[in-house]
Amino acid sequence: MGADMGEKDMARRLMVLTVICYFIKIAEASGGGGSGWSRGHATFYGGSNAAPSTMGGACGYDNVYTAGYGVYTTALSSALFREGEACGACYELLCDSMSDRRWCRQGGRVVVSATNFCPSNDRGGWCNSPLQHFDKSLPAFTRIARYSSGIVPVLFRRVGCAKKGGVKFTVKGHSFFNLVLISNVGGNGVVKGVWVRGGRGGVWQAMHRNWGANWQNNSKLDGKPLSFRVMVEDGKMLTFNNVVPSNWRFGQTFATRLQFS
Ligand SMILES: *[C@@H]1O[C@H](CO)[C@@H](O)[C@H](O)[C@H]1NC(C)=O
Repeated sequence: MGADMGEKDMARRLMVLTVICYFIKIAEASGGGGSGWSRGHATFYGGSNAAPSTMGGACGYDNVYTAGYGVYTTALSSALFREGEACGACYELLCDSMSDRRWCRQGGRVVVSATNFCPSNDRGGWCNSPLQHFDKSLPAFTRIARYSSGIVPVLFRRVGCAKKGGVKFTVKGHSFFNLVLISNVGGNGVVKGVWVRGGRGGVWQAMHRNWGANWQNNSKLDGKPLSFRVMVEDGKMLTFNNVVPSNWRFGQTFATRLQFS
């Protein structure tokens, strides 16, 4: 009998503890205590193979797999996409089970990379400004929610990006229109500034975001080895010396060994 009471007491204490934890989690998730969680919604595009819909996209990563972004990718509403400034950003997402218990996967969480833009009025207006919306690949969606739900409320925050290997540079464009696609960016994940140098004695020239993850400078750099200096959003900067050899051709991708932490 006495042991019985002890067990009941223990069970009661455990329940109280669970409830407290539950509320701490809500407080954290609501952005209380500066933990950085925000609220939004998520849908999905494409089928389970995800292949056709993850190719191309508004960041310009022609093939998101070879560019280092994998299966867990997302298109962002304009409020989050910021005209391409968010390309490459990583977000951790939880299904907001407080708002929608039925359609959430218990304990599900996923980290997605921003590779595309979700235009206004697509997806029933969910991507219209100022909504914070994630139109994810199906595998990313089903990590946190049931397929049949179609749309779920989410909690999200920016996180660091884990990448295999170094930053990659793809030389695009034509002569006099030097465009470089910068992909597989780890650490903060988002490129904020780029400089290019042609030849060993050349000067560093600022590049500007042309679209998505494509950066441009009009100076003629054909036939010269190229070096790049890349700064990510948190201010970290890396210099990639002569990563592109002088015989480069438009369309080639050059992998490096340097990576942001
Ligand atoms: C190219 O670099 C030069 C030198 O930094 C700069 O003056 C020019 O604005 C740049 N052009 C573009 C398109 O970024």
